[in-house]
Amino acid sequence: MKSDKKIAVIDFGSQYTHLLASRIRRLGAYTEILSNEEPLSVYSSYAGLVLSGGPSSVYEEGAPLLPKEFFQLTVPILGICYGHQLLMKTLGGEVVSSSSKEYGPATLNLVSGKKSKLTEKVSVHSKVWMSHGDEVTKLPDGFEIMGDSDNCRYAFVSDESRNYFGIQFHPEVTHSEEGETILGNFIRICGLANSWNLTSFLEREIDILKKKVPTDKNVFLLVSGGVDSSVAYLLLAKALGKDRVKGLLVDTGFMRKNEVSGLKENLDKLGFDLTVWDESSEFYRLLADKSEPEEKRKIVGDQFLEAQSKAIDSLGLDSENWILGQGTIYPDTIESGGTKHSHKIKTHHNRVPAIQKLIESGKIIEPIAELYKDEVRSLGKLLGLPDLWIERHPFPGPGLVVRMIASQETKDKEGEREALSLAKGLDPNANVGVLPIQSVGVQGDQRSYAHCAVLNDFTKDWKQLEDLSIQITNGIKTINRVVFAPDLSILPERFFYNRIKMDKFHSDLLRDADSIVTEHLYKEKIHTKIWQMPVVLVPVGLRPDSFGIVLRPVESQEAMTANFYQMDRDILSRITSEILKITSISLVLYDLTHKPPGTIEWE
Ligand code: XMP
Repeated sequence: MKSDKKIAVIDFGSQYTHLLASRIRRLGAYTEILSNEEPLSVYSSYAGLVLSGGPSSVYEEGAPLLPKEFFQLTVPILGICYGHQLLMKTLGGEVVSSSSKEYGPATLNLVSGKKSKLTEKVSVHSKVWMSHGDEVTKLPDGFEIMGDSDNCRYAFVSDESRNYFGIQFHPEVTHSEEGETILGNFIRICGLANSWNLTSFLEREIDILKKKVPTDKNVFLLVSGGVDSSVAYLLLAKALGKDRVKGLLVDTGFMRKNEVSGLKENLDKLGFDLTVWDESSEFYRLLADKSEPEEKRKIVGDQFLEAQSKAIDSLGLDSENWILGQGTIYPDTIESGGTKHSHKIKTHHNRVPAIQKLIESGKIIEPIAELYKDEVRSLGKLLGLPDLWIERHPFPGPGLVVRMIASQETKDKEGEREALSLAKGLDPNANVGVLPIQSVGVQGDQRSYAHCAVLNDFTKDWKQLEDLSIQITNGIKTINRVVFAPDLSILPERFFYNRIKMDKFHSDLLRDADSIVTEHLYKEKIHTKIWQMPVVLVPVGLRPDSFGIVLRPVESQEAMTANFYQMDRDILSRITSEILKITSISLVLYDLTHKPPGTIEWE
């Protein structure tokens, strides 16, 4: 495809760079991601250029920049967040560190009497998603303010004569309700309306796979049983023929209850040639006393590889004739720091160094690595995957390993005081504590590892809970997550910390709780309303020698951002009381954190 039929997204390290590219594709124009260090002749050959967000500040030393001449190109340009600030600064405007940092929802107000091509058919007041600590304070010549928000005067600016647009919010995340209209308008401005779709992706990918896998080689695919690896299998089988694709499922000991047997049965039905390899005792041995999230992830990634090579040996599959396949998708690569300027949030289990090496030497094939979850699901439909399978909630490769919080006890008295004053300011009945543990989050494109506040059940109004959660995570640096304790109107005097080991006993506890939750989701028919629902075992209980369970249902479309799901309170009470029947569980918590600032998984 020639460049003048594509839009380039220039990457400054935003966690959303790939998402942005994928959104634009979904809207009908093919995109490619480029670094900020290409020659001008490369940029000028595209039909449009989008400058992504990123974790840096444009005024700090070493920040990724673009040469002044870049902004003499006659191609339409859309700067987003960092990209917007870069556009402003390079053309002579001013950018400073903002006194009021803004993460989360805001309202974009279009300036009355002004018309921009970028906001055609966009409402005068629309909900957008902000994530920034810097802001523009002076415009370059030729630009005008076209829209603002409560905390940001230059939320949307443009030079209509040159088709240069700068926006402080993220139109690519679904929380920006009219973001698609804005991106669609940009595609039209670039002259690329309706120029790409998933069917053409499928045709192209089949061609690529046929060329990539020599006819004398077959593919050995790592299967997790989720949608991704099933779609990867169907795609490979379609391109190469069923006989040339073999599946391997590694049982890590951190799978869900009855998962392995159920999967085997279902995959057999789809025509998979599947081998199950039991590696659980090794996983338990290596992880037993580990507590640091990144270390746990690395061990899982490495042990997966070790198990695979053992299985390959034992099945007699030599590397001369077999290539390794993975159902990796876009978010898996980006959250591991997949683009040049991005911060590392989590090491994905199929992006550990050993796997990276295999990828670099062309020994791994990842047929859906360019796609997002919703695209994978649509592709699955195109390839004939049954609906029930397509609707399965995503389950992370490391499984329950990332849902068992084995961290050491840590306190945050100062954070607790601050959170308490915020809570009391909202409602005198609200109370708040801080759990003695930390979890992973993402804020302003950076990884965080911070404390979790816990609220009493002071209201049935989800909006009030949400507001307090946003206030706490926005206002208190040491807290990146907020939960509440359903049906506990009064918080206990203290929470008991009980260390969790990464062993069979503790994973069995979580398996039991998780299976209660899954059963209820299907029974109450809310399974398809929730995008994913991690159930997390935490080393905190109301009694000594007992633990807590966190429910983390989210709504999302692509996992890069998410909203916590607002469950019917009667259903929640039923699930809570059922979980509390497990002998060692004394506390149930419900996660009220959006992503950002919390990630979907706790680790
Ligand atoms: P986070 O927690 O980063 O998760 O918001 C985003 C999505 O990715 C899944 N996830 C993983 N999937 N291997 C996987 O196969 C991994 O190492 C991994 N880590 C996170 C997570 O379940 C969510 O859907």
